[in-house]
Amino acid sequence: MKIHVINGPNLNMVGKRDPSIYGSLSYAEIIEKIKKWSNSQNLEVEFFQSNHEGEIIDYIQSLPDEDGIVINPGAYAHYSYSIRDALETFKGPKVEVHLSNIFKREEFRARSVISRVCDGVISGLGWYGYILGIEYIMETKK
Ligand code: DQA
Repeated sequence: MKIHVINGPNLNMVGKRDPSIYGSLSYAEIIEKIKKWSNSQNLEVEFFQSNHEGEIIDYIQSLPDEDGIVINPGAYAHYSYSIRDALETFKGPKVEVHLSNIFKREEFRARSVISRVCDGVISGLGWYGYILGIEYIMETKK
């Protein structure tokens, strides 16, 4: 059983992209932190980032239901019914994560079309949200 940390568009630009909102760590530094923590827990975590909707869908479709997903869909959270549908078909545990608190920002960000097909949403806790999402999946898989 593997946990997949999926990141959508522009998340490869964090660190450079509005650090007052997304924090000063780069994407590579966030991945490093998650890797370090998951290694300490003996967990197998795989990372995928894409700026393309279809690639994210192909990746989700390739996963067995025995696995788990932690996904930060970026702006796709607000309008991608195709990613929503791909996630609905995946039957393993899935958690939606946002670095920023999407409920505290522009109105269009407060709505996610993904949330209803996820077990839960973690928003506003920065990179730590990914760790919490992984922990939840480990608990449900016990
Ligand atoms: C984000 C929030 C989205 O609204 C935004 O488009 C992103 C990042 C977050 O992690 O806070 O790209 O998903």
